[in-house]
Amino acid sequence: MRLNNIAVTILTALTLLTSGAEAKSVTIGMAIDDLRLERWQKDRDIFVKKAESLGANVFVQSANGNEETQMAQIENMINRGVDVLVIIPYNGQVLSNVVAEAKREGIKVLAYDRVINNADIDFYISFDNEKVGEMQARSILQKVPSGNYFLMGGSPVDNNAKLFRKGQMNVLEPLIQSGKVKVVGDQWADAWLAENALKIMENALTANRNQIDAVVASNDATAGGAIQALAAQGLAGKVAISGQDADLAGIKRIVAGTQTMTVYKPITKLADTAADISVQLGEGKTPTSNATLNNGLKDIPSYLLTPIAVDQSNIDSTIIADGFHSKAQVYQ
Ligand code: GAL
Repeated sequence: MRLNNIAVTILTALTLLTSGAEAKSVTIGMAIDDLRLERWQKDRDIFVKKAESLGANVFVQSANGNEETQMAQIENMINRGVDVLVIIPYNGQVLSNVVAEAKREGIKVLAYDRVINNADIDFYISFDNEKVGEMQARSILQKVPSGNYFLMGGSPVDNNAKLFRKGQMNVLEPLIQSGKVKVVGDQWADAWLAENALKIMENALTANRNQIDAVVASNDATAGGAIQALAAQGLAGKVAISGQDADLAGIKRIVAGTQTMTVYKPITKLADTAADISVQLGEGKTPTSNATLNNGLKDIPSYLLTPIAVDQSNIDSTIIADGFHSKAQVYQ
């Protein structure tokens, strides 16, 4: 009998050991819209570092702003059997089927910084993007309380671009109604690319014979393109213009006085929190949410972080203090 007991004890210990050793580490597939835009490089680096520190494996693919490429990459991740998909959608309107396929395979789906519409996603993390738009418009109004405004929207297939515009109009509408602000043009820059914003701004300046007093641009890349067009007309620094993402080039333009402000979204906090959430989802846990957002199909548990308006007055106390860019990079 004793021998039998010993055998059982050894077998139980072995089982516990191997199951401990084989504790499945979470595998994450991160599908990024476009690493050509600086901020997503930071999101990727910080996310991967944090997720790996939590014992997860991560592999990342960038679609470089191509819808079909992103769909194929997500399919590939499903076929490789990831536990969690973290998606920064190029187009948040076209992923319903591929998300449904992922769910059928038991894969969890986190929409990162951009919501995925009409899809059965498990979680959404971002900043309060309507508040981003309100900050942009409020900063420009402080500089230009009345005059000709040009609205430079972001990618027309990025749900965030619509939320920024909603926030901007929350602030501008009353001034437009009173006639103090006149919107002399409104275009959307495909894929958020600077070269598209440049063309749009050149045409807007021609159409308005340079009579533009302010530009409400929704991120730094498009602000940069617009400022190039303004500079060609000797207007850089004379026309107020907003941005977002605290790209290094954007911060340097704010120091130089050609860009009025940017909206800084602490990517470290976003990416670290997203990594935590992804691993929890992979382990079958329920992450903490502080908001819900309806994506057209259902109410999505969400986690929204607070954006920060940055202009010449607070670059040091935010961007530099957080180590987002170094003093040398900003002021060299
Ligand atoms: C948006 C994002 C912005 C900016 C833009 C360009 O979805 O919310 O912060 O990064 O994409 O990539």
